[in-house]
Amino acid sequence: MSSELAAPEQASASRVIAEAGRRRTFAVISHPDAGKSTLTEALALHARVITEAGAIHGKAGRRSTVSDWMDMEKARGISITSTALQFAYRSADGTDCVINLLDTPGHADFSEDTYRVLTAVDCAVMLIDAAKGLEPQTLKLFQVCRQREIPIITVINKWDRPGRDALELLDEIEGRIGLRPTPLTWPVGIAGDFHGVLDRRSGRFIRFIRTAGGATAAPEEHLDPAAAEELAGSAWLQAVEECELLTADGAGFDSPAFLACRSTPVLFTSAVLNFGVNQLLDVLVQHAPSPAAKVGRSGDLRPVDDEFSAFVFKVQAGMDAAHRDRLAYARVCSGVFRRGDIVTHAATRRPFATKYAQSVFGQQRTVLDTAWPGDVIGLVNATALRVGDTLYRGDHVEFPAIPQFSPEHFAVARAADTSRHKAFRRGITQLEQEGVIQVLRSDRRGDQAPVLAAVGPMQFEVTSHRMGGELHTPISLEHLNYSVVRRTRPEDVGFLDAQSGVEVLTRTDGALLALFSDKWRMEIIQRNHPELMLDPLIAAGP
Ligand code: G4P
Repeated sequence: MSSELAAPEQASASRVIAEAGRRRTFAVISHPDAGKSTLTEALALHARVITEAGAIHGKAGRRSTVSDWMDMEKARGISITSTALQFAYRSADGTDCVINLLDTPGHADFSEDTYRVLTAVDCAVMLIDAAKGLEPQTLKLFQVCRQREIPIITVINKWDRPGRDALELLDEIEGRIGLRPTPLTWPVGIAGDFHGVLDRRSGRFIRFIRTAGGATAAPEEHLDPAAAEELAGSAWLQAVEECELLTADGAGFDSPAFLACRSTPVLFTSAVLNFGVNQLLDVLVQHAPSPAAKVGRSGDLRPVDDEFSAFVFKVQAGMDAAHRDRLAYARVCSGVFRRGDIVTHAATRRPFATKYAQSVFGQQRTVLDTAWPGDVIGLVNATALRVGDTLYRGDHVEFPAIPQFSPEHFAVARAADTSRHKAFRRGITQLEQEGVIQVLRSDRRGDQAPVLAAVGPMQFEVTSHRMGGELHTPISLEHLNYSVVRRTRPEDVGFLDAQSGVEVLTRTDGALLALFSDKWRMEIIQRNHPELMLDPLIAAGP
């Protein structure tokens, strides 16, 4: 055994607790175009990770592209894959924190991917476009957060552009999703005329000062109410009046209600001008939860100061031409991770050497030597690791599996060149292990023509693109006319398979899935044969 793989030196429990306490691990959830990429850049800019906006998510017209790595993403200008961004931040009250921002795909077809990322965060920022309010994808992602009991900070963005009334937006949040909004800042100036915000905690005016093109962190001035009135006049007085209404309505920040997902602190920003971004970071530091004990599969709690444990929430390969390898992202749940540690892979109980750990910042990777609870480690070429797997040292722990969503689209895949069957099988298996696609098989269809199942049709595009590109095995896809799926059991297969418009296949995890052409057919069969097992799978949305 090389000295690099020697038994690790343990960190004291108090050090682990202190490091975990400094971590804030969160994701931004939003409908496409609400400004998630712009906000991510702005956050990193404020934390001085980058000096000029545009270095992380370069879209058309901005500088380089760091996280939108796939050709397809570039062509479409959407972010399909997730990235982990880590930066240090000192808040206004002098607290030193480490922020872990996990990026989530914007497109609804990748909601399963987003769901996996949300298993790895302690908090979510719900980003809303001030002109549009709650949009379908925001609602869908919000439901996932609620189900997972993830506290939510709401950010109303694009306040520099004409939009809706602030009080009306709060009503919409409360009315449609049942979260009580408790604004921490309030805009001075209507949407489209953004001067700054009234800080409801101090009563002061935080005035934002524009920089050329929003390219650098916006300076701000903190003014007392008299100076605010002098400078912003009626806009200030209106903000004061509206805040009085909020106070009278009891819309004050309530930490236990926020942590219990009953209320949401609200902030107003213009990500493109970098306005309000410092306030968001400060709220994350002051109010967002730090990593806490996690429940294992058997109901046991793994406290953060226990020995190292982590779970894989994402597996990704072929990230760019320079790194054609496979990366498993794991979120640390307890203890300290030191590169070179030999940990146990819970699924196989086999030792797993972590010599090649990296932190991934957009496309840049650096060797990662140490990680604490809340941090994300990228394990290179970890072919044994699957989404949901647990790694640990010391006492055995296995965290709950990450459920697979109910697919709604199905297609038979075949290798365009039938002599490349082995490569075809390898490629499909790889994409399946990454969670790009689910794979179903049956004796009737044979191994050369597996059925691919997806939550959204873009997953098929990604599969085709990657099979033909980096995996060098172009495929053809034949779409199948099924849209509903139920889980069944061996004794019901014969009957179901004999029905028209129904087919039973086995998913790689062993689940028997009955596919139906439409929900009416499924419902008739279910009504006429209540003895059959036809259990719904987890739906991709409400
Ligand atoms: P997404 O990741 O959520 O999909 O959104 P993204 O950041 O790409 O933002 C979508 C569009 O909204 C971009 O404009 C972006 O500049 C703009 N935007 C984001 N935040 C704000 C804001 O606070 N105020 C205003 N006025 N605009 C904002 P685009 O024209 O699509 O692209 P670009 O050429 O400006 O980059």
